[in-house]
Amino acid sequence: MASINAGFLGTGHSYPEGILTNADLEKIVETSDDWITSRTGIKQRRKAAPGEYTSLFATRAARYAIERAKIDATDIDLIICATVTPDQILPSTACLIQAEIGATKAAAFDLAAACSGFLYGLSLANSMIRTGQAKYALVIGAEVLTQYVDYTDRSTCVIFGDGAGAAILGPVESSRGILSTKIKSDGRFAEQLFAPGGGTRIKPSAETLASGQHFFKMRGNELFKVAVRSMAEISREVLEEANLTADDINLFVPHQANQRITDAVSKNLGVEESRVYSNIAMHGNTSAASIPIALDECVASGKISSGDILLMASFGGGVTWGGVVVRW
Ligand code: ACO
Repeated sequence: MASINAGFLGTGHSYPEGILTNADLEKIVETSDDWITSRTGIKQRRKAAPGEYTSLFATRAARYAIERAKIDATDIDLIICATVTPDQILPSTACLIQAEIGATKAAAFDLAAACSGFLYGLSLANSMIRTGQAKYALVIGAEVLTQYVDYTDRSTCVIFGDGAGAAILGPVESSRGILSTKIKSDGRFAEQLFAPGGGTRIKPSAETLASGQHFFKMRGNELFKVAVRSMAEISREVLEEANLTADDINLFVPHQANQRITDAVSKNLGVEESRVYSNIAMHGNTSAASIPIALDECVASGKISSGDILLMASFGGGVTWGGVVVRW
């Protein structure tokens, strides 16, 4: 049986109206706009207001993607919501989104792979479309990370922001769509970025809340080096699998973790700045939402045209990493 190519039919994104600038953070922790800008490239990030939650932004992003794909929500066979900040433990955020958009025939589930979640989701959706198990898939990356950020910890609170991005994938002609995907993880580095409390190991209690065990803890410096190495390596692997080289890339959309990580990976691959998309200054690190938000911004501003080669690469907690090559 000939396999079916999966391509992007529509994209969308959404984020909270609330903005937290570097100047705002200067009033909360001992930091400075200079330090944050030079070490991360971030100038501001979006922050959900009390009462705003992950599926709210995810649903809005999904609706835009569905509209642009010119399909009906009832056509969707699969909904994957990549998130480490779900609305609640049960049911999955994907099921809550499914009910909101009326995707009555879809199978829906959440995927926890931190910042690599969207690329993990693309990889799974691609396999299901290729093998005919699904025709249309909605892949979402959505986070309200600021709820798990300790605003007394200057090494993490300056980095993370909130938002959601979504894409509808479906069958495309055989020369287009997703050309190669690769996803990897290494749990030995689990404690480089983790939230120890609030699960079954350290149950949520007044004590765990008071000691901030539900907050993200990060060894940023160690992660930095692994992130650069892993993203560069996996990018080469997916390019090779697609019989392409870095010279063929029209646009590189990496996970927006830190401008210095993006610069180092791009340099390592030999992709100059004009072919690399960055929105970290405006959004900070939105984990699973960062690539789909960036992708939708690129589509809206005409940075990607039909036939272009797009490389996406990510790295996140777990640790997890991934790469995807697409002929748009
Ligand atoms: N303002 C001022 N000083 C600060 C701040 C701040 N906001 N944060 C840390 N510092 C200080 C530290 O205390 C340290 O001071 P010391 O030398 O007196 O001890 C100094 O700055 C250097 O600290 P480093 O941690 O070495 O700083 P670094 O240059 O590595 O930058 C950063 C930190 C921005 C976190 C960087 O390491 C990074 O971006 N790492 C990668 C993050 C990442 O990719 N995470 C995975 C993906 S996210 C996900 O999966 C959800």
